[in-house]
Amino acid sequence: MSGPFSDLTDTIFADKSVLSESYQPEEILERDEEIEAFSHALQDVLFGREPENIFLYGKAGLGKTAVTKYMMEELESEVEVREAADDLHVHEINCNGKTLFMVVRRLVNDLLSPDASPFPKRGLGTGDAFDELYAQLDRLGGTHLIVFDEIDHLDDVDTLLYELPRARSNGHITDSLVGIIGISNNYTFRQSLSAKVKDTLMETEISFSPYDAGELRTILRDRADRAFVDGACDDSAIAKAAALSAQDMGNARQAIDLLRVGAEVAEREGDEVVDDAHIEDARTLVQRGRLRNKIRDQTEHAQYILETIAKLEERGDVPARSKEIQEGYERVADAYGATPLTTLKSIQDHLSDLHMLGFLVRHERNKGLSGGQYYEYELDLDPSIVLETREDIVQTAD
Ligand SMILES: Nc1ncnc2c1ncn2[C@@H]1O[C@H](COP(=O)(O)OP(=O)(O)O)[C@@H](O)[C@H]1O
Ligand SMILES: [Mg+2]
Repeated sequence: MSGPFSDLTDTIFADKSVLSESYQPEEILERDEEIEAFSHALQDVLFGREPENIFLYGKAGLGKTAVTKYMMEELESEVEVREAADDLHVHEINCNGKTLFMVVRRLVNDLLSPDASPFPKRGLGTGDAFDELYAQLDRLGGTHLIVFDEIDHLDDVDTLLYELPRARSNGHITDSLVGIIGISNNYTFRQSLSAKVKDTLMETEISFSPYDAGELRTILRDRADRAFVDGACDDSAIAKAAALSAQDMGNARQAIDLLRVGAEVAEREGDEVVDDAHIEDARTLVQRGRLRNKIRDQTEHAQYILETIAKLEERGDVPARSKEIQEGYERVADAYGATPLTTLKSIQDHLSDLHMLGFLVRHERNKGLSGGQYYEYELDLDPSIVLETREDIVQTAD
């Protein structure tokens, strides 16, 4: 009997999870220098000394999180065989979307004994959470490494970086040692710290540079060998994915995404081998996906403005002046039952932001004899992406 699933067989993937975001590679490739610097910075842990604070910098997709996870696992097993080392506790926390209170509370809850009741969500402040954190660190003793991933997203990072590194010298803890590992996608993070933190935070900095095409090929080949059935992925497909990602900031996450999506395209088309054409298609799909996320991140009114310009564009009425955009925008906002922004200035501010973010092209026009200048706008992306994304958002909001 043949049913809707009967002709689906897995001819391409041997283990697709190897290409997923959550997969942690057993082996880190092409990051020998960073790993060596990291080992040096961590060596105090092996001798029972107070750990150095370590900060990793580099753009997204350059292996900061993966290298840190790998180093923590390696360090945990090394500590087992080292006489001089104290017990090691590693805590990893992603700061994205969290307040300082949430972060410290999470740490406290990780440290509490399993039968203790969790630190309350309400009623107590960040200072109380720090007090409890210190009490728990000393209760457990040993060495604690706390990884703050995406630390640049934290609202009150100055307090954190002022408090924790001084916990011992200020007498808040006596029976435990603490080291901080901060990871930031943003090179200007350090500059944004207050002077008193910057001057006293003793740290080792490790910076991650973009991968070149050759390095990305090595990383991708290794993944492909684990993810695909033998022979199911052309070398030229890997070279293509590596070259495209190398051009675009050397991002390994993007390179792996291209390979996964390319393989999905091949599978859908019933092809048994992933080739460059599939990667080319994947690139378009991945770019569309990224644009959608970027649109979703905009405020409600900025999205109405984008939708308005997309509609003008479909009618051939672009480039358009801010006044024309405002009129269309008011109808769009009304249609969604929202109260439109009333001033032309607020529309112009949004237009200028959207231009800066790369959504819009802006043309400067001269008013002729009367002098003066004004702007006209059009989308810098396919209007159908905007309209489809808006439709998705409206549908999922119901
Ligand atoms: N040197 C590497 N070797 C193997 N895989 C890597 C390497 N660098 C990055 N990756 C993979 O690329 C993706 C992005 O890496 P990640 O560590 O999350 O980047 P970051 O934290 O810098 O944004 C992950 O899937 C990771 O496993
Ligand atoms: Mg990361």
